[in-house]
Amino acid sequence: MRRYSRITGTGSYLPPRRLSNSDLVQELAAKGVETSDDWIVERTGIRARHFAAPDVCSSDLALEAARSALAAAKVAPGDIDLIIVATSTPDMVFPSTACILQHKLGAAGGAAFDVQAVCSGFVYALTIADAMIQTGSATRALVIGSEVFSRILDFTDRTTCVLFGDGAGAVVLEASDSPGILATDLHADGKHVGILCVPGSVSGGKVTGDPLLKMDGQAVFKLAVGVLEDSARAVLSKAGRAAADLDWLIPHQANIRIMQSTAKRLKLPMDRVMVTVDQHGNTSAASIPLALDAGVRGGKILPGQLLMLEGVGGGFTWGSVLLSL
Ligand code: ACO
Repeated sequence: MRRYSRITGTGSYLPPRRLSNSDLVQELAAKGVETSDDWIVERTGIRARHFAAPDVCSSDLALEAARSALAAAKVAPGDIDLIIVATSTPDMVFPSTACILQHKLGAAGGAAFDVQAVCSGFVYALTIADAMIQTGSATRALVIGSEVFSRILDFTDRTTCVLFGDGAGAVVLEASDSPGILATDLHADGKHVGILCVPGSVSGGKVTGDPLLKMDGQAVFKLAVGVLEDSARAVLSKAGRAAADLDWLIPHQANIRIMQSTAKRLKLPMDRVMVTVDQHGNTSAASIPLALDAGVRGGKILPGQLLMLEGVGGGFTWGSVLLSL
């Protein structure tokens, strides 16, 4: 009998400090940076974001999201044999945030590693976990996106610092006789490294280069809408399904205009697109599992429904996962 993987629980966590656009506008004004609630809402759809306290790391946010997903799946930490954390803001250069999280959860012995694919990180991590479960390398996985993006923002650059937030989302993915995950589709094109990057690195005990986020917003926008449509069509075709069959599109929450464009290209009404960017901002690898969990806990996303998760981000990387919940 073929072995599949299936999501059996979701969870998420947002740090308590919430900044509305007006709160952020005031904080930035004190630094001489001019922006407005109107500009942010009109260009991005963002109304608020959460920022972690200075002593809180990605593994701390991941821990809360993981505990909530484990409780929903009724799985004990000790029964997890694979942890994958998608993050671009790890606690340390090494070891991985996944290993730190494993210890905080009180689990030991299973495989644990991080995946770095920026805002596509969660769909990359879910695809890897699905493949490992299908081949029998793992049976019960925790797949997490967790970010403290506020640490890598330049709060003197209004074109980027208004866009991002911190948070974590998690799923428990378990082996199953029935799908579950129906098809996956991953891509990257490294020639676009320069349009979205944090170019600094650690060398000889110092940070070399610039350790803050740089983005060419218009180039990212144009690339994102094209690849999201292509990947959506590819993953649907692999599973023999049509866009009209989707109950929910759960896209990376970068910008409401990118989501509207993708929905329009797929002829999906916006009431079948999960939108949390208004309340969370762009939380990079955490945004898809945060939106998924918000939909599940809010009673919108229901067992048995057909979902498409779609990510796009730095690299450039992009991809989709089609699944039945
Ligand atoms: N407040 C006020 N004015 C601003 C701000 C701000 N925060 N930021 C830029 N502006 C000004 C610019 O200086 C410019 O002024 P000018 O016309 O006098 O020169 C004007 O607004 C327009 O700037 P643009 O960059 O052309 O604005 P655009 O409509 O392209 O919107 C944005 C910028 C929101 C970044 C858009 O390009 C976008 O959504 N890009 C996609 C990028 C994205 O979502 N990235 C997230 C990370 S990547 C990912 O997750 C996939």
